[in-house]
Amino acid sequence: MRVDLSGGDWLDDNRANWDERVPVHVASDFYDREPLRDGGGVLDPIARAGVERLHPAGLDGVRVLHLQCHFGSDTLSLANRGATVVGLDFSRPAVEEARRMAAELGVDDRARFVEANLYDARHVLPEPESFDLVFTTWGTIGWLPDVAEWARIVAWFLKPGGRLYFADVHPAAFVFDGDGGPGGLPAFTFPYSKDVPDVLEDPSDYADASAALANAKTWEWVHPLDEVLGALGDAGLTVDAFTEHYLVPWQIFPVTVPQGDGMFGWPAERWLPLSYELVVSAPVR
Ligand SMILES: C[S@@+](CC[C@H](N)C(=O)[O-])C[C@H]1O[C@@H](n2cnc3c(N)ncnc32)[C@H](O)[C@@H]1O
Repeated sequence: MRVDLSGGDWLDDNRANWDERVPVHVASDFYDREPLRDGGGVLDPIARAGVERLHPAGLDGVRVLHLQCHFGSDTLSLANRGATVVGLDFSRPAVEEARRMAAELGVDDRARFVEANLYDARHVLPEPESFDLVFTTWGTIGWLPDVAEWARIVAWFLKPGGRLYFADVHPAAFVFDGDGGPGGLPAFTFPYSKDVPDVLEDPSDYADASAALANAKTWEWVHPLDEVLGALGDAGLTVDAFTEHYLVPWQIFPVTVPQGDGMFGWPAERWLPLSYELVVSAPVR
């Protein structure tokens, strides 16, 4: 299915949905920002360890582009560690809250937030090859119809030798739904690969069980691993590390249980990976 990347119902519906989620998330315990106010961060343990592996000496002077930054909590976690950050998101209330929080934390000289559709990134940030690190985690490319173009955008922004850090739900987990399977397990419901988006009507929100969103219609895409890895390679990037994990930073299925540090996983065996992590580098010229 061909999609106009610059606009259309998919973009309008998804933006309305995310705009409505922002105040819900800002008020939620899930997105507790006290660690930011204490000068620390709120990165989940997978991303925290991943960034530390890439930058063991810290983030002072490191230029980071955070794609789909929501209201900036992860972005500002990186800024609190010394990075100079640009966060991009298409939700105006999200970007406004991110800017407000950057000012509250006193890091607005190093934290800039841009409101834009990801596919317009090259027009609103005319700074090719200007970032040491492109950071994007948890719930990002599933909102994007075209991963090949996403990968080209990442490549465009990376300095020679710069890296993409990516962590997100494993596409294999998206074949399951809820708890309708045997023993309360998620039921195998969806195909792993399909050419059409999932157009959903779901008023619930992962950060607040009491939320009932009026803008409930969303357009979401599952991108199989070979599509993501192929797109990054076709964009001229090299996958340095690919890691599967059995944890995600929210209760993805009712059967998943807390595993510490805000992460959830299967109750016993490592049945199937729930997430994956990529480190990808731009060529050194
Ligand atoms: C699940 S959130 C990412 C959350 C982030 N990991 C965090 O916890 O802060 C997904 C974000 O993608 C943004 N988004 C979705 N589609 C987008 C698009 N086409 N362009 C830019 N941002 C988009 C939404 O506004 C939302 O903030």
